[in-house]
Amino acid sequence: MYRTHTCGELRISDVNKQVTLSGWIQKIRDLGSVIFIDLRDRYGITQLYFDNVLNPDLVEKARRLGREYVLQIKGTVRERESKNPNIPTGDIEIVVNELNILNESETPPFTIEEDTDGGEEILMRHRYLDLRRPNLQRSIMLRYQMAKHIRNYLDKHNFIEIETPFLIKSTPEGARDFIVPSRLYKGNFYALPQSPQLFKQLLMVAGYDRYFQIVKCFRDEDFRADRQPEFTQIDCELSFVTQQDIIDIFEGLAKHLFKEIKGIEINEPFPVLPYSEAIEKYGSDKPDIRFDLVINDITEQLQGFGFKVFDSAQYIGGIKVENKADYYSRKKIDQLTDFVKRPQIGAKGLAWIKYNADGSIKSSIDKFYSSDTLDKVLKSLNARPNDIIFIISGERQQSLRALGELRLEIAQSIGLIKDNDYKPLWVTDFPMFEWDEEEKRYKAMHHPFTSPKEEDIDLLDTEPGRVRANAYDFVINGVEIGGGSIRIHKRDVQEKVFKILGLSESEAQAKFGFLLEAFKYGAPPHGGIAFGFDRWVAMFTGSKSIKDVIAFPKNSAGRDLMLNAPAPVSHEQLEELGIEIKPDKK
Ligand code: AMO
Repeated sequence: MYRTHTCGELRISDVNKQVTLSGWIQKIRDLGSVIFIDLRDRYGITQLYFDNVLNPDLVEKARRLGREYVLQIKGTVRERESKNPNIPTGDIEIVVNELNILNESETPPFTIEEDTDGGEEILMRHRYLDLRRPNLQRSIMLRYQMAKHIRNYLDKHNFIEIETPFLIKSTPEGARDFIVPSRLYKGNFYALPQSPQLFKQLLMVAGYDRYFQIVKCFRDEDFRADRQPEFTQIDCELSFVTQQDIIDIFEGLAKHLFKEIKGIEINEPFPVLPYSEAIEKYGSDKPDIRFDLVINDITEQLQGFGFKVFDSAQYIGGIKVENKADYYSRKKIDQLTDFVKRPQIGAKGLAWIKYNADGSIKSSIDKFYSSDTLDKVLKSLNARPNDIIFIISGERQQSLRALGELRLEIAQSIGLIKDNDYKPLWVTDFPMFEWDEEEKRYKAMHHPFTSPKEEDIDLLDTEPGRVRANAYDFVINGVEIGGGSIRIHKRDVQEKVFKILGLSESEAQAKFGFLLEAFKYGAPPHGGIAFGFDRWVAMFTGSKSIKDVIAFPKNSAGRDLMLNAPAPVSHEQLEELGIEIKPDKK
């Protein structure tokens, strides 16, 4: 038997027990006549005590140990002289009387502690060591707990978990597919699924009623902190449901997880915000509503006074920041201006109006506006002394997005965001289509299987851009955690939507023929949702990147540095597949 207890288990009530522990050496403190060693495993840390007087041979042996050696020790539990209130085993230590070295270890390339000294590259290359760190272990364990609670909840609500294939057909829409060459059918390729979307719909046609799967999805897209090329979804589909049914069931799931994982009981319903309102008020379809700083449309109030920039703008919007007029010095405003002018944000500039504490008004645009006019703007926003208003103008959508970014930046810089504050909400009524200026065609905002709102169906023929979809996103603290829709289940509507998306009949048949075919045989009304499991775990662990909640993630350049993947394959493998690699065009 390697152990009687784990390293996180022993307490004061175990004093005098003979125990056997196994684990890794976290730390050695050699005080000459005694040596302390912290022994670590997944469960915690226990202090070992070696005494020169009691057992000089053992001390000699212990002196040859190093960090990360794997030990088995036997000894007696005793109460510590100086206790450590910071760890659960901090009241006791083990007086060691037998020491077996189960394995030696080279000195690790970084310290295996909460705050390590290793850079990303070295950590990723030795991910198995990085994963020994307690913070990563906590995150990976929390991930497992969440999966368990999700399965329990869904099981209780009649969902069954069904696996869907990974080797499927390429039908890119949204992101690029990862493709897998076929050996038996040279020149043909499988694709890895971007999501099990079509299979879960077919499972509804097949009558399975409620499906879920905690499943890997693959998307060849650009990297961000909240994106990985392979990631995990909690993928769900239900038959005979309305949007409200879906919101109710999955709000229940979210509340269940908040309670079980975070100990937070939420009783009131989550806010539901139509897409258009989210954009108008927060400049984002995934608004962070932990703080106010809402966007106000002040176009009418500021046009017609001869200030060209504003007069020619399609939209002028302002954000009021309370009690911060004195805080925003010239320098700070310049910094914010640089922020909104960055190419990713693309605002032309940033105007401001300060309602000074003494009641006077100062503004970057006071050359063009009387204090009367500015005063009216301040009043319309209910500004009080020492408030400041930031203003961005230009094309409507772009200005709103820029104001959305500005509000996040302001909230972060003036500390409006509290730790451990969670504000979930639903965003609904997304547009069906968005116009792609480059390709000069409509693209599905969610995906092509999303149904239009009943009352907008006539617009499909006349003004597709105005059709709203039965689509919804689930957002927590400005992060899109999940999204779904009520699907099209009628063949003719599906064909019409394909047509609007620019798919000819034969293309639609080639890509999605099996779905159209299935719809001939009694497809029930159905809908579903998929949550980004990694994002949800990262939200609950407070991790900045989803990499921290995935055991073996890719780095930010899409590589696995430990495996060194992607990597070339042998000439023989390529030959077998009938693939020739073209040299890079330089
Ligand atoms: P969607 O594409 O919105 O919907 O994806 C659902 C959720 O998956 C997460 N997500 C990602 N997480 C990490 N890395 C990525 N690259 C990544 N891409 C997406 C997000 C997102 O909200 N089949 C539909 C769902 C449905 O309609 O039922 C779908 O995949 O949290």
